Amino acid sequence: MSTLIFVVFVAFSCSWAASVDVHGAFLECLSGEFRNYTSISSLIYTPTNSSYSSILEFSIRNPRFMSGSIPKPLVIITPSTSHKSLMSSTVLEKMTCKSGLEVAAMTLRKTAWVEAGATLGTLYYRIAEKSPTLAFPAGECPTVGIGGYLSGGGYGGLFRKYGLGADNVIDARIIDVNGRILDRESMGEDLFWAIRGGGGGTFGVILAWKVQLVDVPERVTVFTIHRTLEQNAIQLVHRWQYIAHRFDPNLFVRVLLTKVNSSHDEGKMTVRASFLSLFLGGIDTLLPLMQESFPELHLVREDCIEMRWIQTVLYFAGFPIESREVLLNRTQPNLRYFKGKSDYVQTPIPERGLKGIWRRLSQPNSAETEIFLTPYGGRMDEISESAIHILTGLSPREAYVNYRDLDIGVNNIEGETSYEQASIWGMKYFKNNFDRLVQVKTMIDPSNFFKNEQSIPPSWIAKEEI
Ligand SMILES: Cc1cc2nc3c(=O)[nH]c(=O)nc-3n(C[C@H](O)[C@H](O)[C@H](O)COP(=O)(O)OP(=O)(O)OC[C@H]3O[C@@H](n4cnc5c(N)ncnc54)[C@H](O)[C@@H]3O)c2cc1C
Ligand SMILES: *[C@@H]1O[C@H](CO)[C@@H](O)[C@H](O)[C@H]1NC(C)=O
Ligand SMILES: *[C@@H]1O[C@H](CO)[C@@H](O)[C@H](O)[C@H]1NC(C)=O
Ligand SMILES: *[C@@H]1O[C@H](CO)[C@@H](O)[C@H](O)[C@H]1NC(C)=O
Ligand SMILES: *[C@@H]1O[C@H](CO)[C@@H](O)[C@H](O)[C@H]1NC(C)=O
Repeated sequence: MSTLIFVVFVAFSCSWAASVDVHGAFLECLSGEFRNYTSISSLIYTPTNSSYSSILEFSIRNPRFMSGSIPKPLVIITPSTSHKSLMSSTVLEKMTCKSGLEVAAMTLRKTAWVEAGATLGTLYYRIAEKSPTLAFPAGECPTVGIGGYLSGGGYGGLFRKYGLGADNVIDARIIDVNGRILDRESMGEDLFWAIRGGGGGTFGVILAWKVQLVDVPERVTVFTIHRTLEQNAIQLVHRWQYIAHRFDPNLFVRVLLTKVNSSHDEGKMTVRASFLSLFLGGIDTLLPLMQESFPELHLVREDCIEMRWIQTVLYFAGFPIESREVLLNRTQPNLRYFKGKSDYVQTPIPERGLKGIWRRLSQPNSAETEIFLTPYGGRMDEISESAIHILTGLSPREAYVNYRDLDIGVNNIEGETSYEQASIWGMKYFKNNFDRLVQVKTMIDPSNFFKNEQSIPPSWIAKEEI
């Protein structure tokens, strides 16, 4: 039996202290809603329950969110899939939740229903159980939840070949603000479009996604090549910018810039460029391809490892590739404090710009900074801007909604947020798709029940008409 975790997110202005009454009222309301309240009370955690913290911390990926200044859920409910009645009651539907942790059904026709609380790791694991030549194009970190990941688009090592995770969603089940459970047919194409990239926690609660699996060869190849300043790292990264998005779609080469001790200058730090690569094919095909596409990197056979696709997931996540059970573990090792920001680079950064980055990163105050550079191209060039929401575009710079960046602006804590205000970050995430997302939001949730710091607001004018 799989477990579901509903987390009730309070509006971000609330604090625990101020919400004690809300809490009582909520529980009362719940008991009214369920004829047999006792049967679910053991599933309900409030801050007074001793295991509340451990249940909460379980899903936290960045210790920043454990800090006292960050508001915490008033109530966490952990029903299992057998508590179907929870799904259709009017109270619980009005919550942003982590629902169902499992890959519910997988058919031989290369599709799978994935409950929205499942992690990417679980999905990968279940796919590998069925077939070594099937995969799903999603991200590298196995503990990321499929609910939020697909809601914001979702890129990963296969996206040059197959597009974003959200491009490979073919159906979904969502609970709307009125408690209706809708599928693709009953929700209509506008909402189905919006939930695949418009960001989580805006349109309703996704219960499950139906995803299209994709083909991968039985053997694929990975390599990681490190180059320091002395090994021409800057020239290589500079060159890489011009070609990586034009590589064969089976070849994905991203770059990681990290700070390391200089081997030349005792006591000094320098920056190392690592070329992290996944090729959908064997070494014998890769070597001539790299010789043709990126000879400057001097890739040799010894740099390459052939393996199954599922092992590449383990490889890039930093686990031994022999045992895939770790993918089912929802606890992430080595939790780190971090702050992430994203940007889209339209024109290659000149060498002098890269030198500037190197200088900045080498300074003592940029302690553990890492920069990932990810090339688009391939299938991503064929998908129109309106098909997806993470985009490349012109200046001013844009950002990726799944790396929620509150520095760009946030919804008003009290009251409504105007279209103009929200478009400051909305246009950076969605460009002209922002308008259509506002229209869908106005249609599906005009009272703005589902909201977070950067959720799409309904349009005020349209709201007055309603
Ligand atoms: C370690 C790490 C690695 C990452 N790597 C990648 C990567 O390779 N590629 C990439 O594209 N992104 C990546 N991300 C970003 C990731 O896609 C986002 O953090 C995403 O929001 C995670 O979703 P979640 O469900 O785990 O998180 P949550 O914080 O639970 O959810 C994020 C948002 O979605 C909403 N939401 C969650 N579930 C549902 C649901 N069922 N229905 C409606 N709304 C929901 C939440 O309310 C919240 O607003 C990474 C993040 C981390 C922490
Ligand atoms: C209520 O649920 C409890 C626990 O599941 C069960 O033992 C009890 O019989 C139920 N009562 C009714 C009236 O259904
Ligand atoms: C949390 O505490 C309440 C009140 O003491 C209790 O009724 C409930 O069963 C507890 N929940 C869990 C999951 O133990
Ligand atoms: C760099 O060198 C210092 C000592 O000079 C050492 O403490 C540290 O662990 C080294 N860092 C790395 C990443 O190797
Ligand atoms: C899951 O991972 C955590 C962190 O690495 C570890 O402490 C725990 O033992 C693992 N659990 C299982 C069942 O492997």
